[in-house]
Amino acid sequence: MFNLILFGPPGSGKGTQSEKLVEKYEFVHLSTGNLLRQEIADKTPLGLEAKSFMDKGQLVPDEVVIGMVDSYFDLHKDARGFLFDGYPRTVAQAEALDKLLKLKKTEINTVLALEVSEEELVSRLLNRGKTSGRSDDTNEEVIRKRFAVYNNETTPVADYYKKINKFESIKGEGSIDSIFSRICDALDKRMKK
Ligand code: AP5
Repeated sequence: MFNLILFGPPGSGKGTQSEKLVEKYEFVHLSTGNLLRQEIADKTPLGLEAKSFMDKGQLVPDEVVIGMVDSYFDLHKDARGFLFDGYPRTVAQAEALDKLLKLKKTEINTVLALEVSEEELVSRLLNRGKTSGRSDDTNEEVIRKRFAVYNNETTPVADYYKKINKFESIKGEGSIDSIFSRICDALDKRMKK
């Protein structure tokens, strides 16, 4: 099993690149943002709880997200590998993921981080907000809050994986195809190791 984390701030292109990576490498795509939005659409108790945090640009509590990931993992026992998109976002989530993968006798093989300037990120998200229907994209204040949360709570996750030499930065600006080809180059090298 080969497991990849696609890392990066809101709007860095994780979802866009994940779709292409899933098609090429047949990963199971685990996006906690998508799973949470599905819970909201289904009006489940978990979704109702999550919505109040997401609308404000805050993280959903660790225990809620970790439980959701564990259940999703169990639904895909035959996966050849997972692509984690938007997870882990806190050190507690990274530790929980390590524990889960160890139980399944596998591990994170690499973390690829998309690097994009904040100016470009804001412009991408406001632009998407015009059509996506995502309430966290339409208000610039909420977008800035998401960046602050990323800087305070999620960047320590990068250090967590840097310490074990699994972290690699990828230039996340330019055309979608050129970024995809940089990701594939990095991934292919890691897969050969
Ligand atoms: P989540 O859904 O994960 O959102 P996010 O991390 O804020 O990321 P986005 O989906 O906004 O951006 P992306 O990096 O996927 O970029 P995309 O490809 O879409 O999380 C939403 C919320 O859920 C969180 O705020 C939190 O509340 C909660 N949550 C989720 N996971 C959680 C967790 N683990 N723990 C706790 N809470 C959690 O691209 C963005 C836009 O840019 C698109 O319009 C795209 O078309 C465009 N674009 C992409 N690439 C390019 C390019 N190269 N050039 C120009 N435009 C581009």
